Amino acid sequence: MIDNNAISDLCQKAIDMRSGSYAPYSDFLVGSAVLTSDGSIYTGCNIENSAFGPSICAERTAIFKAVSEGHKDLVAIAIAGGKRDGDLQYCAPCGVCRQVMREFCNSSFRIYLAKSAQDYKEFTLGELLPESFGPENLE
Ligand code: THU
Repeated sequence: MIDNNAISDLCQKAIDMRSGSYAPYSDFLVGSAVLTSDGSIYTGCNIENSAFGPSICAERTAIFKAVSEGHKDLVAIAIAGGKRDGDLQYCAPCGVCRQVMREFCNSSFRIYLAKSAQDYKEFTLGELLPESFGPENLE
């Protein structure tokens, strides 16, 4: 279980990370924060590209930062997204990010879609990516 203060902290870090977003094409700023099993937090933001294809979402930025630093045991992620001049939405992860989560997280991995540190929706990866393909399929 993750206590409410830790969830609020994770959500706030995701919200704050929107300031690092590079999104001149969509004007949709997303921040995220990943919690690892040892209590470390890695943050990320979306980074777009004029060729569109090379753009990366906030979730993958944070997850790849964590994994590249040796953290492959991830327990939760908070995501905060919305238009640059608009309110935050409950911003759900795209399909590609869900599949990346599937690589490093189990089905009880917690996903918080944050509008504020107190206002968030909670899902598990199993709920957002049912009947999925993962590393065990290749064993
Ligand atoms: N985006 C994310 O970073 N995460 C999401 O969960 C949804 C979408 C980014 C990708 C792109 O830079 C912009 O938001 C609009 O799709």
